[in-house]
Amino acid sequence: MEKNILVVGGAGYIGSHVVKLLGENDYNILILDNLSTGNKEAITYGELIVGELADGNLLDKIFTDYNIEAVMHFAGSIVVPESVEKPLEYYENNTANALFLLQKCREHNILNFIFSSTAAVYGEGLSREVKEDDPVNPINPYGRSKLMVEWMLEDLSNAWNDFNYITLRYFNVAGADPDGKIGQSSPICTHLIKRAALTALGEIDELQIFGTDYDTSDGTCIRDYIHVTDLAQAHLDALAYLVKENKSHVLNCGYGVGHSVKEVVATMKEVSGVDFKSTPAARRAGDPPFLMSNPEKIKNLLSWGPKYDSLKFMVESALNWEKHLQQR
Ligand code: UFG
Repeated sequence: MEKNILVVGGAGYIGSHVVKLLGENDYNILILDNLSTGNKEAITYGELIVGELADGNLLDKIFTDYNIEAVMHFAGSIVVPESVEKPLEYYENNTANALFLLQKCREHNILNFIFSSTAAVYGEGLSREVKEDDPVNPINPYGRSKLMVEWMLEDLSNAWNDFNYITLRYFNVAGADPDGKIGQSSPICTHLIKRAALTALGEIDELQIFGTDYDTSDGTCIRDYIHVTDLAQAHLDALAYLVKENKSHVLNCGYGVGHSVKEVVATMKEVSGVDFKSTPAARRAGDPPFLMSNPEKIKNLLSWGPKYDSLKFMVESALNWEKHLQQR
């Protein structure tokens, strides 16, 4: 039986970019997605199974009918303020469902696992680039729901010698496929670059700048934005590493380069040619002033290197994707 990669949540923003790269690199792909936030049109390669991750019979059937070499787990809820309002939904969707998936992996002897985690596990307080072994201290249910899965993976790999995992801690993922085929289509949109693109296109009246009195170079928050296709490549590199080396790791996914909110807004205005309204507003609860990765580990371990690490390109590809959605 030929080997397959099972991509759970492959119809979503990041999962669909990984599926596209896997397809371009001739992997056999099976996608499990309930299409709650993802959509069918985002799937460019592979076979889609529409279903719930919590459906044990479905997982048993997938693991019995297909030869699954590795599981990539993207399915999860990602909106920080929503996690504060609905913690149990986050613990169910992000933590309990991942636990269930891992139980099924154990039952069916699936040995390689790649997990989508987040920089939100670090929490607040560090004013320098964070390393993977820096203390974790998530400040919201979203970060906590992901960190618990990180710990499960660590404990499972200690208890079960054959099992290996790579946890990827994403920083601020942005932009869209350079070919323009896929992008971020999620209905709830809180992310800065997407909102700036929507404001430039007139779909939002004004862009609020949440906090202009932070102790940073221009008073606004600094983030480490990473283009979604570079992030997707990190998954392929992690997969190749896992299969060859059989070792587990936690890796930051960012460029280690910071951009302020004001810088992002100025870049969107320049790229779009629209001087849209951007207004100083109160700080948003839970925003750390500074969140940046130290990416040395991933660069050394996986020989991963960025290709799309210009803010202008990230902003431009996000804008082009929003234009494409408007025309549909
Ligand atoms: N921002 C604005 N105006 C907006 C939207 C965002 O000023 O309309 C600001 C935010 O306040 C923040 C910065 O832009 O300072 C970036 O905000 P995003 O919402 O784009 O991203 P976050 O940094 O909040 O979120 C990211 C990931 C989360 C992760 C979190 C960890 O998307 O998954 O980092 O802090 F949990």
